[in-house]
Amino acid sequence: MRSSTRIRLIEPTDAAPIAAHRARDFEAFRPWEPAQPADFFTPEGQAERIDSLLDGYRAGAVWPGVVLADDQVIGQVTVGGILPQPHLRRGSVGYWIASVAQNQGHAGHAVGLVLRVMTDELGLHRAEASTHLENLPSQRVLRRNGFSPYGVAHSSILLDGSWRDGLLWERVLGD
Ligand SMILES: CC(C)(COP(=O)(O)OP(=O)(O)OC[C@H]1O[C@@H](n2cnc3c(N)ncnc32)[C@H](O)[C@@H]1OP(=O)(O)O)[C@@H](O)C(=O)NCCC(=O)NCCS
Repeated sequence: MRSSTRIRLIEPTDAAPIAAHRARDFEAFRPWEPAQPADFFTPEGQAERIDSLLDGYRAGAVWPGVVLADDQVIGQVTVGGILPQPHLRRGSVGYWIASVAQNQGHAGHAVGLVLRVMTDELGLHRAEASTHLENLPSQRVLRRNGFSPYGVAHSSILLDGSWRDGLLWERVLGD
């Protein structure tokens, strides 16, 4: 049976499990996630990154979460680019799940939970996301959470050495 999925704000002690997952999944994630500097794959590098994510959280620009299964960190779910102004009230959702925990519904549940944070805690009105055109699992996660594709951003992200198109997704919150 699938273990339950939880999300919470990232904490400094998450640095070690995140570094371990990302080091193990370096090859598997190469087509889907941007290249990172070497220290991204170390607990020290992740600790610095978590500090700056928490600075962004305190500034209201980002909601940086981790995904937990059986209380173990198995991935991240982040609301970035938060625009809280009353006439915008939107943010962009990003996520990854470690290969050892994929295809058990965790990303789908984590995105559902972060949509609730966006509505109830952040008071946002609109969620956005972007996926590689060929990232079908990620697109399933978004569709299952009520997102619809609305356009293509051409040559918008450097992945595995090539500028790739991004499929743009939207979901009006409260729908
Ligand atoms: C994309 C990702 C987050 C999905 O995480 P996950 O926990 O495995 O996702 P879920 O189990 O909730 O859902 C995966 C869905 O994709 C489907 N799927 C899996 N492999 C597939 C494939 N090759 N083709 C089509 N669909 C596929 C599953 O059946 C499931 O669909 P369902 O909800 O209809 O059953 C994870 O694969 C990942 O982190 N990948 C690498 C990084 C990445 O792509 N990040 C997102 C960038 S936009």
